[in-house]
Amino acid sequence: MAEHAPVLWFTGLSGAGKTTIAKEVQANLIRHDVRAELLDGDEVRATLSSDLGFSKKDRDLQVKRIAFVANLLAKNGIVVLVSAISPYRDSRDSAISSFARGYEIFVDAPLPVLERRDTKGLYRRARLGEIKNLTGVDDPYERPEFPALHLDTDGTQLFGSVEEVLNLLVKEGTVVRD
Ligand SMILES: Nc1ncnc2c1ncn2[C@@H]1O[C@H](COP(=O)(O)OP(=O)(O)OP(=O)(O)O)[C@@H](O)[C@H]1O
Ligand SMILES: [Mg+2]
Repeated sequence: MAEHAPVLWFTGLSGAGKTTIAKEVQANLIRHDVRAELLDGDEVRATLSSDLGFSKKDRDLQVKRIAFVANLLAKNGIVVLVSAISPYRDSRDSAISSFARGYEIFVDAPLPVLERRDTKGLYRRARLGEIKNLTGVDDPYERPEFPALHLDTDGTQLFGSVEEVLNLLVKEGTVVRD
């Protein structure tokens, strides 16, 4: 039976950089022949969680489903990169502690920066009242208390953030630097 692989759980507000960083880390791992899968909140919502909305109950259920799939992959030796807002500390903590090797990665930038990026146009629509329950605007986000990594994507370029994640994987033994 394969050794349990690590699960890196990227949490943070919309536009913080979770998907961008996780994809880049995945590509890097695959280039080094490490099997890695991305579980992205948007993709899970479009498929497995297409029945869910944005209430606390539904957001917690989304986290549980992602954690279930992540566990199946990780116990078969596949490194899992989860990118999901996952705003509630309790459900995030139970998900991450359910993994043999789980790491919380807080992807962080100030709200005004995210509103300027507005990669999906969500902040503008929320300010116009066209959508409700946007995390950080009119829905809560509970910041991680003791993340394994805290990435400041305002002060750091993508490359630097990716390096920090790869360094974590070197330290915990998944990636061997030559
Ligand atoms: N250091 C950085 N790391 C990651 N992304 C950065 C960084 N600096 C700027 N960006 C930009 O920030 C944006 C992040 O968007 P991304 O879709 O990755 O966010 P997200 O956290 O996945 O949001 P969502 O929760 O809505 O899916 C991209 O346009 C990216 O180019
Ligand atoms: Mg994303």
